[in-house]
Amino acid sequence: MTFKRSFAFVFSCGLAAFAVAGSSAARAAEAAAAPARPDLAKGEATSVAVCAACHANDGSRGSPANPILQGQHPEYLVKQLIEFKAGKRDNPIMRGMASALSETDMKNVAAFYASKQAKPGFAKDKALAALGEKIYRGGIAERNVPACAGCHSPNGAGIPSQYPRLSGQHADYAAAQLVAFRGGLRKNSATMTGVAAKLNDREIKAVADYTAGLH
Ligand code: HEC
Ligand code: HEC
Repeated sequence: MTFKRSFAFVFSCGLAAFAVAGSSAARAAEAAAAPARPDLAKGEATSVAVCAACHANDGSRGSPANPILQGQHPEYLVKQLIEFKAGKRDNPIMRGMASALSETDMKNVAAFYASKQAKPGFAKDKALAALGEKIYRGGIAERNVPACAGCHSPNGAGIPSQYPRLSGQHADYAAAQLVAFRGGLRKNSATMTGVAAKLNDREIKAVADYTAGLH
């Protein structure tokens, strides 16, 4: 009886210890496998302290030359920051900004902007936007320009994580990027260099004006 009871005691203690060790090992394995969650509060702190001068506190409308970041896919934003830092996307201002960030900082600030809702914008020139809509939806068949909608989605929201949101973006910024792709200044996407290579200045302005008002 005594023997039986002490055996049962040892056995159950052993089992409990095993169960505890097992669950903490499982938790450690889970933590190692799952990527660390981005820290939105840290992302906001970076945005307010460093980025706000040009991108506004929450990545919304700043000057038309500075892109709207709110509502953009976080993976796309992180890709841009890594490529600014590496000089693959050539911009002296953003190279400086991105160089000061670790990859964790980039993920945090990108997640912060992505957590904000993109606000609708508007097109400025009706006739120009109509030409832009034609190109956006149907491409230009005779010059093999693909429809932008195919990758950036019909409403311009993009397709996470590869294809960025274009809807509501400043037209000046979007047009400048298309010119930069075309001229080889922005060389971080062979796809977009190929698309922009076939567009003339008027078509670039048209499609940028159209996407500014798309939602
Ligand atoms: C002094 C102004 C300025 C500051 C400060 C600044 N940016 Fe920028 N940012 C720009 C400009 C201008 C561009 C467009 C660059 C280009 O033409 O390629 C840009 C582009 C970007 C892009 C690319 C967006 C896209 O749609 O491709 C990201 C991401 C970005 N900035 C994030 C940041 C972050 C994060 C910070 C703060 C750590 C920051 N920026 C601080 C001016 C600024
Ligand atoms: C085959 C897919 C594809 C098609 C078609 C396409 N794009 Fe893109 N576009 C991309 C990808 C991918 C990127 C992101 C490049 C990067 O990672 O830097 C991009 C980026 C852009 C950007 C830069 C966004 C920013 O925030 O800096 C603009 C502007 C743009 N595309 C406009 C257009 C327009 C206008 C058309 C149609 C004439 C078009 N795209 C057609 C794939 C495509």
